[in-house]
Amino acid sequence: MKTITKALADHHEEMRKLVKEVKKDSTKFIFLKKHLDVHHELEEDLLLSKLHTNEKIKDDSLESQEEHVILNFALLDLADFPKDNERWMVKFKVFEEILDHHLNEEEEELFPEAEKIMNKKELDDLGAKFEELKEQRLSAALETKPVPELENPK
Ligand SMILES: [Fe+2]
Ligand SMILES: [Fe+2]
Repeated sequence: MKTITKALADHHEEMRKLVKEVKKDSTKFIFLKKHLDVHHELEEDLLLSKLHTNEKIKDDSLESQEEHVILNFALLDLADFPKDNERWMVKFKVFEEILDHHLNEEEEELFPEAEKIMNKKELDDLGAKFEELKEQRLSAALETKPVPELENPK
């Protein structure tokens, strides 16, 4: 059984691998976007919403949420922008820097703090919930064919 923090950190690893794949083949971006959309939603629902109410960790947890807002904007911009334009990969690399910073900060600061303030049972229960919902939502999202307008705008 995995704690929620371990399960989220493992998902970060999957996304780091996807980032490397997208740099070789930008058509894989759609998979990375789906993983991140699901990740942000579940991380907010299952973990951040609980941490926002704890004074000790509130600032870090609200910061994580605001970084999601910025990352989500960047994901929409990348989904919309023509991939054959040379600016696309430049945009993607800027996005990668922000994402890297975000994932590292969660792993190095937010998750260890959360492990201190939540009990083991709660961490395990949320971990199981995350694994279950992640599989459900990803398989639903990945069954959907890529939207042509997103792949080839205009
Ligand atoms: Fe995360
Ligand atoms: Fe996050």
